[in-house]
Amino acid sequence: MKRIVILISGRGSNMAAILDAGIPASAVISSRSDSAGLDIARSRGIPAIGLDHRNYQSRDDFDRALAEKIESFSPDFVILAGFMRILGDEFVKRYAGRLINIHPSLLPSFPGTKTHSRALEEGVRIHGCTVHFVTEKLDHGAIIIQAAVPVFEDDDEESLGRRVLEQEHRIYPQAVKWLIEGRLKIDKGRVRLDSPAKTKGELISPEIES
Ligand code: GRF
Repeated sequence: MKRIVILISGRGSNMAAILDAGIPASAVISSRSDSAGLDIARSRGIPAIGLDHRNYQSRDDFDRALAEKIESFSPDFVILAGFMRILGDEFVKRYAGRLINIHPSLLPSFPGTKTHSRALEEGVRIHGCTVHFVTEKLDHGAIIIQAAVPVFEDDDEESLGRRVLEQEHRIYPQAVKWLIEGRLKIDKGRVRLDSPAKTKGELISPEIES
């Protein structure tokens, strides 16, 4: 059985979706000791550790302490699920090919923060989420799976965010399963999934009138 450690910073709904999918985690670590997600993990009997970044002088110090904590669980893979700290290059290199993240936009559109409000400002008709391998360049690693949702005329940040989050909870457990089953290969910066199922159809937004 492959071992995973999940890193969070807040409410932990993606972490919960992964656990709900029957994927066991060796530990959950949060960069904030008051994360609601830590309580969820504890209630499921999973070691849950608050490693508050505010207690460390520099990013390097925090990264080192984090890496030490992670290594104490000897994980095969590290899963970022709403982990709000930018990890240093050394950390990312150390876990290359074993570290994945979920981002609330259709990358490479809208890397960084405030993705839903930026999508609304740009007037995109289709928005979504992406699971990708983590590389040194923020939100730019090889893409594993994406889900798209329509953007409606009356959407605000919250309604759009909710629609995207629902899809995050579907695609992240799937990506983690593929990862731990060894079904993902990175080939020239692109992810190859062995025997991928074909996508069902298209998403046109707004819908074409017939
Ligand atoms: C999610 O939208 C995720 O894509 C982003 O941060 C949010 C975390 O939410 N990276 P949760 O803690 O998983 O509920």
